[in-house]
Amino acid sequence: MCAFRVDIDDAVARLRAGDCVAMPTETVYGLAGDARNETALQHIFALKGRPLSNPLIVHLHEVSDVPQWATGVTPAVRCLLDAFWPGPLTVVLPASASVSRLVTAGGDSVALRVPAHPLARELLARFGGGLCAPSANRSGYVSPVSAEHVLADYEQTPLAVLDGGVCPRGIESTIVRPRGEVLEVLRPGAIAVPELQRVWAGTVAYIARPEIAVPGSAPRHYAPRTPTQLVGRDALSSAGSDAAVVAIEPLPADCKAGKIVLLPAQPDAYAERLYTTLRTLDSEGFARILVERVPDNEHWLALTNRLGRAACPE
Ligand code: TXA
Ligand code: MG
Repeated sequence: MCAFRVDIDDAVARLRAGDCVAMPTETVYGLAGDARNETALQHIFALKGRPLSNPLIVHLHEVSDVPQWATGVTPAVRCLLDAFWPGPLTVVLPASASVSRLVTAGGDSVALRVPAHPLARELLARFGGGLCAPSANRSGYVSPVSAEHVLADYEQTPLAVLDGGVCPRGIESTIVRPRGEVLEVLRPGAIAVPELQRVWAGTVAYIARPEIAVPGSAPRHYAPRTPTQLVGRDALSSAGSDAAVVAIEPLPADCKAGKIVLLPAQPDAYAERLYTTLRTLDSEGFARILVERVPDNEHWLALTNRLGRAACPE
């Protein structure tokens, strides 16, 4: 049996019964389950093929739900939550004692986020509790940004999917961990470092080795099955017909690549289209995917991170 669409009434009923439902968010689709139900949590790990050492994000409806899950909301943290929630920011805080060890992977912190997608918000409001939701891809693969992507990933698994259309941001949330005056960025994402800096009075510090800071996350991730390389303009221009090319600037007319996809030279617009582009090219049988290196500055940090990991050899 394969994945299938459900409406919101059905989705709420399934979550209450301890089942998983793929739900839209403004970043990517998540594989949601009741964050207080051990059976539902185990089901999330099994469906994704995710190691139990990798903790889960708890999605909440309101900032006022935070005290049920975490402590450590200082005035500075509160400013951050008020500025970016609902929205694509995940905040790692000291976990309350009642949070399942499956959520925290046995650690003492919990990652929380209040999503902005209207259907996710309605689902959370009607469910009335916290929903754990990792990205709904199979572990290691490109995150899904449409219901079709989820349906394709779970062709042989009976998974309920709540279709909320295409995710408008197209890249995962930014994960931060407040540490006194310092705001550590554990995963760059939809909110860029300069945006955080406008709200956070102290230092915003990007942690470049997330595989150490974030338990269970592997260097290779977000990766198409087709070998993928990050390259400069010369390699793009000389690509052969067995290669698909993803470029920012137009290529010379005599470029022999099998397919050329031009993505916008603006990071938010690029992010919106990246995962769909990688998934489409991955299904078209090319020998390799060559992606033009993106600019090396803090506006492109999340994309540099995702592309670097997609192109990391197995
Ligand atoms: O945009 C998103 O964040 C999406 C949507 C569905 O909300 N979710 C998402 O979840 O990307 P996931 O599980 O694919 O990635 C969450 C990352 C993982 O790398 C995990 O290790 C990290 O968050 N994480 C979770 N809890 C953590 C914690 N307590 N401390 C540090 N990292 C944590
Ligand atoms: Mg993920």
